[in-house]
Amino acid sequence: MVSVVVLVCAYVLIWGAWKVFDWVWWKPKRLERYFREQGIEGPSYKLIHGNLKENTVATEEAKAKPIENFSRHFIAPRVLPFLHQIVEKYGKLSLFWVGGIPRVNVMDPDLVREVLSNKFGHFTKMRPNPLSKLFISGLASYNGEKWARHRRIINPAFHQEKLKVPMILYEVLRLYPPVTFLMRYTDKPMKLGEINLPSGVLIGLPILLIHHNRDIWGEDAEEFNPERFSGGISKAAKYKSAFFPFGWGPRICIGQQFAIMEAKIALTMILQHFSFELSSTYVHAPHWSLTLQPQHGAQVVFHKL
Ligand code: HEM
Repeated sequence: MVSVVVLVCAYVLIWGAWKVFDWVWWKPKRLERYFREQGIEGPSYKLIHGNLKENTVATEEAKAKPIENFSRHFIAPRVLPFLHQIVEKYGKLSLFWVGGIPRVNVMDPDLVREVLSNKFGHFTKMRPNPLSKLFISGLASYNGEKWARHRRIINPAFHQEKLKVPMILYEVLRLYPPVTFLMRYTDKPMKLGEINLPSGVLIGLPILLIHHNRDIWGEDAEEFNPERFSGGISKAAKYKSAFFPFGWGPRICIGQQFAIMEAKIALTMILQHFSFELSSTYVHAPHWSLTLQPQHGAQVVFHKL
């Protein structure tokens, strides 16, 4: 009797140990191979934390210093440093590990559309950020000729002529998308383009990286150029699905029109009564904290007109 109990206990222990081993090591390693065979690579899985430690280190390093020169809006290495490194190194489809969960990063706008279509279940939701935070840069931060050019674009809007404010808002939303990435989750095995995804995979859609990608937006991808939207959103980039600050598909932001309208009204009211400039205390330090935020605030000096 005693030996039967010992045998059962030993069996349960070994079975439990195997399950834990499978969960923390064997399964991720198996999946890593499975993805590699399909051409999807990334930093190798580390026991239990996956790549979370590397992510934390990269984020802390990036947050330590502001961006010195922001005439170009090259913010991806500061806002999403680890993801940026991975995409640079491993390309349009890459992989990293959120603990034991694989996260596939999709940079191809056509595949992004596919993910945001009905096919994939909803995974997480970012809290929307009021548009007021978007004006830390753009018109307010320019001087000289650049300022004059942008001012010329925005001016007619306040003379009841052709409304061009949306172009400016779109360009701000392109360079500084409040929601920097979207997430989906496979709750069953699925196919994405040519790729087979098992159940339990996170799909990351890095809005910010796609919005800043030169292959998609051209050599001036990191420059503030609202005129790229002059032919409408669908003509602004090589792919018409490349601009998606409000998401896309069935879960597209319900407040999109409201947010744009609110921003237009707020900006119009401010410009009617004030001129403004960035304060000398302002440092450019966009960072990710659920949404895209100015890490040290956005100090603006207003002058009554
Ligand atoms: C610039 C401002 C805003 C941005 C960039 C933004 C962005 C987004 C994005 C990217 C999504 C899709 C999330 C996903 O697919 O997982 C979303 C969803 C949503 N947003 Fe916004 N949003 C903004 C303002 C607003 C405002 C003002 C409201 C409400 C008045 C709002 C309400 C919602 C709601 C309710 C959803 C969920 C829709 C659904 O799941 O069916 N958003 N937003």
